[in-house]
Amino acid sequence: MSDVRILTISGSLRRDSHNTRLLREAERLDPGGVMFDHFSGLGKLPLFNEDEEHPAPPAVVDLRDRVRRADAVLIATPEYNSGIPGGLKNALDWLSRGEMPLAHKPTAIIGASPGAFGTVRAQTSLRRVLHKMNVNVLRHPEFLLGHAHTHFDANGCLPADSPTVQLLTTVLDGLVDLVEEHRAKLAAA
Ligand SMILES: Cc1cc2nc3c(=O)[nH]c(=O)nc-3n(C[C@H](O)[C@H](O)[C@H](O)COP(=O)(O)O)c2cc1C
Repeated sequence: MSDVRILTISGSLRRDSHNTRLLREAERLDPGGVMFDHFSGLGKLPLFNEDEEHPAPPAVVDLRDRVRRADAVLIATPEYNSGIPGGLKNALDWLSRGEMPLAHKPTAIIGASPGAFGTVRAQTSLRRVLHKMNVNVLRHPEFLLGHAHTHFDANGCLPADSPTVQLLTTVLDGLVDLVEEHRAKLAAA
């Protein structure tokens, strides 16, 4: 397996976000042959407006470039009012236009919430949006972290031997496999 570049996107703008922490943990796992790029510009994207698509705003050009350069995308979504945060939906709306760099891209979803259900409703909603955008979403395993605040230590880290870290590792492995399948399909085409 040659190098895999994974772009991570957190749906939260919050400084101490559990979802951003999950992505940091994923980046620390270092599965070998994986490079990470973290997109933290969600809050700088203008609200999607069809009147302002051409030329695309610079922040949108940056996001599209980084998605295009990535072999895979890892999205960590909070749950807001049973759905995905507006900032994340706004980014996806921008990515659904133009050359649509997220279409067919191997993508995994994870999510953390202090509540019991660990973002299940947000993830269901996100899967529907990504399905409409023709994104190649990893189906198994699902990663839902409920009672998220009880899992991180005082430094905002997960214990290295925790089931949560094991599950995160399985998600990353699945995502890398999806990239491999995608490359094989492209090579055979
Ligand atoms: C506007 C708003 C709506 C929320 N709605 C839900 C919800 O529907 N379900 C849920 O589990 N948590 C909900 N929460 C709590 C979030 O899960 C919690 O704030 C979480 O920490 C956000 O993710 P983050 O830590 O990555 O910022 C809501 C929080 C906010 C601010």
